[in-house]
Amino acid sequence: MIEVTDLKKIYLLGEVEVAALRGVSLSIHKGEFVGIMGPSGSGKSTLLHQLGLLDTPSSGKILISGTDVSRLDDEARTRFRLLHLGYVFQDYALVSELTVKENVAIPAIMQGRPLDECYMAATAVLEKVSLLKRLDHLVYELSGGEQQRVSIARALVNRPAIVFADEPCANLDTENSRTVLELFRAVNRDLGQTVVMVSHEPWHMEYFDRIIFIRDGLLDTERMEREGKQSR
Ligand SMILES: Nc1ncnc2c1ncn2[C@@H]1O[C@H](COP(=O)(O)OP(=O)(O)OP(=O)(O)O)[C@@H](O)[C@H]1O
Ligand SMILES: [Mg+2]
Repeated sequence: MIEVTDLKKIYLLGEVEVAALRGVSLSIHKGEFVGIMGPSGSGKSTLLHQLGLLDTPSSGKILISGTDVSRLDDEARTRFRLLHLGYVFQDYALVSELTVKENVAIPAIMQGRPLDECYMAATAVLEKVSLLKRLDHLVYELSGGEQQRVSIARALVNRPAIVFADEPCANLDTENSRTVLELFRAVNRDLGQTVVMVSHEPWHMEYFDRIIFIRDGLLDTERMEREGKQSR
């Protein structure tokens, strides 16, 4: 599903080069719930951004469902993201002037689907995240945990092949974090949804099918071997 070969990302800060990814190769299979873990600054978000087409790598190749995404132009990348990928961020990234249902419908509306169909799809995913009672609320009227569930619903509304989540539990307490992780596990199991999630919380490990450990912009193969079968 995702095939990455020798991926490098070098940021230029004035004259200084920061090598955030220094040659990462990996595969993620359809239907996996994969965790990306490693110390702060190791390149987890950078890796997720390259895989999710939110940024362009300095070199290397990324194949998603057989498409060499490094060859897509800007317009094709945008279309690919809209059709095939979903995102959940640490800060929810919702539009505060819109209702819950409207927020969730945005990716469907951007695909040009008829409005009533978009709202129907939004309502259906909001039911999955147990927010039917909040359809017409403005998002700032919701708790942090509820807002994160809205953003998960938004990520799922177009039934993307892959959902990317960058530390989605970072601003949540343990109980709400568990709800979010269980939600990801449920869509992963019930819908066969591929989920790639960055985390630095050791207790999240039990939720993942497999863990990709990163250190200093490279795969931490030593740690993957040490952690055993879970992280191959
Ligand atoms: N836009 C940028 N410009 C310059 N350097 C960057 C940029 N984004 C990230 N970096 C650098 O790249 C390295 C990896 O950053 P990244 O954000 O991927 O780490 P991370 O593993 O997600 O860390 P954290 O756990 O703190 O979120 C860091 O040294 C960071 O300072
Ligand atoms: Mg990060």
